[in-house]
Amino acid sequence: MKYPPVDYSGYLGLDKLLNSQKPKSDEYKKPAHDEMLFIVTHQAYELWFKQIIHELDSVLNLFAKDFIEERNMGVVVSRLDRIMEIFKLIQMQIPVLETMTPLDFLDFRDMLYPASGFQSYQFRLIENKLGLSSQHRLTYNNAPYSEVFVNNEKKQIDQSEKQSNLFTSVDNWLKRTPFLKKDGFDFWANYKTSVTKMLNNEKDLTDRNTLISDEIKEKQRQQINKTEEIFKALFDKDQYNELVKNGKWRLSYESVHAALLIQMYRYEPIFQLPFRLITRLIDIDETLTEWRYKHALMAKRMLGTKVGTGGSSGAEYLKKSTEKHKIFSDFFQLTTFFIPRSELPILPKSLTEKMQFKYN
Ligand code: HEM
Repeated sequence: MKYPPVDYSGYLGLDKLLNSQKPKSDEYKKPAHDEMLFIVTHQAYELWFKQIIHELDSVLNLFAKDFIEERNMGVVVSRLDRIMEIFKLIQMQIPVLETMTPLDFLDFRDMLYPASGFQSYQFRLIENKLGLSSQHRLTYNNAPYSEVFVNNEKKQIDQSEKQSNLFTSVDNWLKRTPFLKKDGFDFWANYKTSVTKMLNNEKDLTDRNTLISDEIKEKQRQQINKTEEIFKALFDKDQYNELVKNGKWRLSYESVHAALLIQMYRYEPIFQLPFRLITRLIDIDETLTEWRYKHALMAKRMLGTKVGTGGSSGAEYLKKSTEKHKIFSDFFQLTTFFIPRSELPILPKSLTEKMQFKYN
């Protein structure tokens, strides 16, 4: 044999792993049957968190280069696919834990103070590596979230705040997107013309519509004017950067153009992987938000309005963090600026030829 033999238990470290469930209710000689489920569920989460961090680190490494080869883009997308599937899987652990009733939970909850999932440093690493910005975070008991960590955990969290993250990496990569201005084709100028045409067309249709009252016509005109205003902010760099300053957007101005180009022309071969990447970021944000929401509901059904073991307002805090702790919201907002395929500027043939993968 090329390598020394390995046995199942030894390879998986089962001795340590399966001896790491130490219910407090056993220690205090007040056995609570469901504490084992509570411990195993949390441990399973932490193992999956470890796997997510492993995938995220590898993706961030690939993005750390000035140029990402096409085959590496495939790797990035498949690792993001995996992260999304894990998020979906760990969501399904919630109904398993909910087979424990609030009264079963009360049998041992008092023994856990002041421990809380809030102190999961791996969860914080995931948030930071994905790119949740510290300005967007809620404070916890009037202090920054990181105050609850010490020693090596604190060190790793502080580092992850300073290191690159998925959001900034994707932003830098999008900025380098070719084809925004190439072979005499200026995507942004053409897109603006199409938007103006589309809005004028809508105004015209409203004016000529004989089936609606003047009152409804006026309402529709106001709605179109509002849409026009939203587009204006996108067409003016200074206005856009002001929105970034106010926390309404995070992507750089150039990246917004690139993300629109990729999504609206996603059927061009060169944009298919970038399109899948953007879609995965949206999926990951959505599944993480779903987890937060389901976790908040679980806390509500277990605790009612009781405060959390970590000292927060409990379910109320979790509801707020579900609303606020989003990472890739920009990609959700971008769909506002999609225009129908029929209105899209036609790409010159010389350009579409460059967007293909050709054998000769
Ligand atoms: C009976 C089940 C659970 C209840 C009642 C519950 C309750 C809570 C509460 C009230 C908080 C707010 C912080 C505090 O004051 O303690 C919290 C935070 C948290 N819990 Fe749970 N939890 C449960 C299960 C879990 C599980 C299985 C995980 C998986 C790792 C988890 C992970 C977290 C995380 C990551 C936070 C921080 C969330 C944030 O800051 O946005 N919890 N939990």
